[in-house]
Amino acid sequence: MRILVAGGAGYIGSVVAEELIAAGHDTVVYDNLSKGHRAAVHPHARFVEADLRDGEELRRAFREQHTEAVVHMAADSMVGESVENPSKYYGNNVAAGLSLLDSMRDCGVARIVFSSTAAVYGEPEKQPLEESDPSNPTNPYGETKLAFEGALKWYADAYALSYVSLRYFNAAGASERFGEDHEPESHLIPVVLQAAAGRRAHVEIYGTDYPTRDGTCVRDYIHVVDLARAHVSALSARDVRGAVYNLGCGGDGYTVREVVKAAREVTGRDVRVRACARRAGDPAVLVASSEKIRRETGWSPLFQDLRAIISSAWEWMQSHPNGYEG
Ligand SMILES: NC(=O)c1ccc[n+]([C@@H]2O[C@H](COP(=O)([O-])OP(=O)(O)OC[C@H]3O[C@@H](n4cnc5c(N)ncnc54)[C@H](O)[C@@H]3O)[C@@H](O)[C@H]2O)c1
Repeated sequence: MRILVAGGAGYIGSVVAEELIAAGHDTVVYDNLSKGHRAAVHPHARFVEADLRDGEELRRAFREQHTEAVVHMAADSMVGESVENPSKYYGNNVAAGLSLLDSMRDCGVARIVFSSTAAVYGEPEKQPLEESDPSNPTNPYGETKLAFEGALKWYADAYALSYVSLRYFNAAGASERFGEDHEPESHLIPVVLQAAAGRRAHVEIYGTDYPTRDGTCVRDYIHVVDLARAHVSALSARDVRGAVYNLGCGGDGYTVREVVKAAREVTGRDVRVRACARRAGDPAVLVASSEKIRRETGWSPLFQDLRAIISSAWEWMQSHPNGYEG
């Protein structure tokens, strides 16, 4: 297929483009490099450096490639920032997303896979989270992702669009070529590995008195290559008109202390931690069930083991000590 990856110079998007190219798809990366990196664009992808709000550029890209489908990974995705600056999140995650959908409609591009988030569920009443659970986002990040999912549903009805929306928590790990290079970095695994590499003094653990196995929060980590493969297989789901799937690690999740312990074992280095007070709005456990996508598409994760995920991230960090700028 001929596929345009919006946000394909970002962390997950670069691996999605890599998997698409490996599967033989003609791939365009469309990214404004607000967060992404030129060096994260796969050498076999055609690159368009532009913003999703630029409808003219989008339509040109679609017509030149004869695009058949879009994978939409382009978004702002920091929860704290979204609370401080909701305008940025509505502007990028909703308005820019609608510009993408309108250009698709104008050019007859009728299929989209959307990288949503499990933050649409808010503070869940039960675990693991299933797609039928209520969505009550507690921050503008989750709210804007949910708003875009709503637009997908109505565009699908009105303009014969077919969509798959993938909801997940924490992408982690790296492929051989592409890894995580965010500034600032807010994700636990790269933060822990930065501490192991001596690039930060310690890791802050927010809350050690939760009702979990060791008092720290339990979270779901999914390997970025597994995520990328899920996006690719969602594209090939031929008879899907509109579907929402969770993606999770398939187990009970890991506590913060378990991540730190695994990182110490993988790296052979010390990781110093500092226990801090709980952060407002951090639920004790957040784990997504992948049962529905396994059942309906046959997707299943290849890298469920936390050590394998951390190892791949550590190897990438060792080979890219200054990230993509090195
Ligand atoms: N990283 C995670 O753990 C995680 C978890 C759940 C969902 N997601 C979702 O997955 C997607 C990718 O996440 P990521 O961690 O790779 O983020 P990222 O910031 O590394 O990648 C996003 C990419 O989109 C580009 N972009 C942003 N706005 C754009 C615009 N208006 N026009 C063109 N390009 C634009 C950025 O330059 C960047 O390259 C996001 O939509 C995010 O909400 C990520």
